[in-house]
Amino acid sequence: MSDFPTFPAGFTFGAATASYQIEGAATEDGRGPSIWDTYAHTPGRTADGATGDVACDHYHRYPEDVELLRRLGVDSYRFSVAWPRVQPDGRGPVNPKGLDFYDRLVDALLEAGIAPAVTLYHWDLPQALEDHGGWRVRDTAERFADYTRIVVDHLGDRVGRWITLNEPFCSAFNGYAVGRHAPGAQEGTGALAAAHHLLLAHGLAVGELRAAGAREVGITLNLDHIRPASDSEADLGALRRAEVLHNLVWTEPILAGRYPEHERETWGAMLDGSFRRDGDLETISAPLDFLGINYYRPLLVADAPHQRQDPAARTAVDIRVREVPWEGVRHTTMGWPVVPDTFTELLLDLTARYPDLPPIHITENGSAEDDRVGADGQVHDTDRVGYLRDHLHALAAAVDAGVDVRGYYVWSLLDNFEWAFGYDRRFGIVRVDYDTLERTPKDSYAWYADLIAAHRERT
Ligand code: NOJ
Repeated sequence: MSDFPTFPAGFTFGAATASYQIEGAATEDGRGPSIWDTYAHTPGRTADGATGDVACDHYHRYPEDVELLRRLGVDSYRFSVAWPRVQPDGRGPVNPKGLDFYDRLVDALLEAGIAPAVTLYHWDLPQALEDHGGWRVRDTAERFADYTRIVVDHLGDRVGRWITLNEPFCSAFNGYAVGRHAPGAQEGTGALAAAHHLLLAHGLAVGELRAAGAREVGITLNLDHIRPASDSEADLGALRRAEVLHNLVWTEPILAGRYPEHERETWGAMLDGSFRRDGDLETISAPLDFLGINYYRPLLVADAPHQRQDPAARTAVDIRVREVPWEGVRHTTMGWPVVPDTFTELLLDLTARYPDLPPIHITENGSAEDDRVGADGQVHDTDRVGYLRDHLHALAAAVDAGVDVRGYYVWSLLDNFEWAFGYDRRFGIVRVDYDTLERTPKDSYAWYADLIAAHRERT
């Protein structure tokens, strides 16, 4: 089909999920509570009080999900390991039954000819660690290194691709500054400490993965393409600060071994460097085999006065930036503007800024749409097909322009628990009926399967 974008031979196609969003079985086989269990069970935190107690029941239905992946034809499946299944208290004794689950999953994937790509942390911190300060404290980074060693010692013989953290931006700022993610804190300096300890956790985990002989090691960042609402001095200042918050906090330490140039201008008095130690940057900037990028939508920003007076806009990290609506384009049900060209631009800008950038994997991309089950029992998700097609074309354009992208994972295999939005934002290429837990592949699943088949035939 002529509207399929083309990619080089050897390009990886995959699908992605995350433990708390799909597994369910929240108290089974010795799993300890995570910060997301606590948060979701706190009244008023998630839409309709939704929790991940059952989610897609993937913990029990994984054979069916692996079969869906096999029929889809993907080369690789990205999933995350739930730390509290492996170490219920986040430290100390290992729960063998928790590891057994990932054993079964990895073996089923390999049997189906699918390469597992493991994310070690997709936001479900053991609650016991949060009770000791969570990501605000250095000890959590050290415990993450121990946990990494346990998992890689166990699965390293069968798993090639490792992702230390998923979107540490969300863990640090949504979790500790805005409070719309677990643990729901609204702090300034605490969020910056969390960001630093997440970076350190990443660096320490890279060391553990290397020591265990892991083949491919990376991290997944949600990098943003950000534009100023105007070219006024004030809005350009907002752009500079938003770049620090969204992108440079992560890319500068990890890829260049330094803190961002405009960090003082961005954080002001919130920046208390006491949690930084000599040698941290060296740990954090350990060389990577790939950089994972999650991309969904661009941001438009303008200068804003301090928001403290406006309770609706309240966040303890106030960098005097407000997001401006992106006009004239379609928006998904997340309210995110669909502007595929910005995906190409992000990748070109990143490559220009970091000439030694490791190869890139797009570890997530996809859209939440207002899916309806038709009279024929099927989901004709034309908007999602359009979103995926246009973003894959934008990605192919970046590859043609010389960006070294090796793979693409669609978010998500299944409709799932979309964090504070609960179950009413559907990102899956497979529909999940939450009453029966029945899975129904959508049109986008068939489209993606055809794209992968066409790629194989061509290369
Ligand atoms: C990024 C996160 O990694 C994932 O958990 C989330 O569901 C998607 N974005 C969509 O918001």
